Amino acid sequence: MSEIYSPSKNRKFYTIKQGLAKIFFTFGKKRKIIHDLFYMTLASKIYHFFASRITLFIVKNFSYDFFSNNKLLRIMLFSGIRGMSLKEIFKIRNLHFNKIIKNDEKIELGYKKIVDEIRKNGFAKLDDEFLNISSKEIEDVNMYFRNSYLYDGHDPLQSSLKKLKYSELNKHQINHQIFNKGYFSYDVETSLNNKLISSLFYNPKLKKLADCYCGFETEPYTISTMLNVKKEIVHPVTEFHRDTDDFIALGFFIYWSKTNRDNGATSYKIGSHMKIESSDFKTNILEVDAGTLIAGDWMGLHSGNSKMEDNERLITMIRFGKKINQSYMQTKSYYFF
Ligand SMILES: [Fe+2]
Repeated sequence: MSEIYSPSKNRKFYTIKQGLAKIFFTFGKKRKIIHDLFYMTLASKIYHFFASRITLFIVKNFSYDFFSNNKLLRIMLFSGIRGMSLKEIFKIRNLHFNKIIKNDEKIELGYKKIVDEIRKNGFAKLDDEFLNISSKEIEDVNMYFRNSYLYDGHDPLQSSLKKLKYSELNKHQINHQIFNKGYFSYDVETSLNNKLISSLFYNPKLKKLADCYCGFETEPYTISTMLNVKKEIVHPVTEFHRDTDDFIALGFFIYWSKTNRDNGATSYKIGSHMKIESSDFKTNILEVDAGTLIAGDWMGLHSGNSKMEDNERLITMIRFGKKINQSYMQTKSYYFF
């Protein structure tokens, strides 16, 4: 085994009707036509191809920073990363990292330790001194989400687009390749309406850590909260894959429930954020307590867990980088921020 990109790549999960429903879905908000038009490029391989060649041309002849800082280029070319090989993506990443790594010496000590660990392994567990979440807060978040509506997919846009109550989940019967597979998710508004979660989304320490790792000014570009129910999960994200949100980004996984190898622990192949070849990576299983934050470069190989034997798993993911990027568009986060 050498290259793993994404198990979902080149797989079709939606009928034409479901695809159209996704295009027209606005979370009940006023339509943003320009964004939705560009959203449609996600379905066009020819567009990916041309967008990827133009992006490579710009990066080569100007610079990655030039491309990265230009919002217009970003919206027109965000799906270009889909038309690139891993080799092309990693070439852009490595050039950028080699350039910014020289500034690591200037990073404040508490942050530098974490950045060093992410640079080396691809992820780092943040200790309680960095950000402390109390057990009362954990309990409140769990309660809040059990009382909120959710979608039957890994992401609201990768679901049947219908909102469900937590109490209805067991009765919910739908047979689809990726809907109702044990993953449920909340929309951005539901996450951000929770005070603690919104304070994490706008947390200056998380942003600073992301700025230091990425080597540029970042901002949060997606937030998603997911619930896994007790069920054998068969879903593409439980296979090793790389998140190609953007060339450079940093994401935080915030666990609201304890995880272990039989209950929803994420796996990460150490060092795979810097190398494509996957045969000699050691796998780390992220077994964590509730209230743990993991900072990670999710371009590195990772997988969800198909086992949820004893308890449910609630997790919030907040990702920092440059808006606009593929993940920001794909999740239609532009309807919220
Ligand atoms: Fe992922």
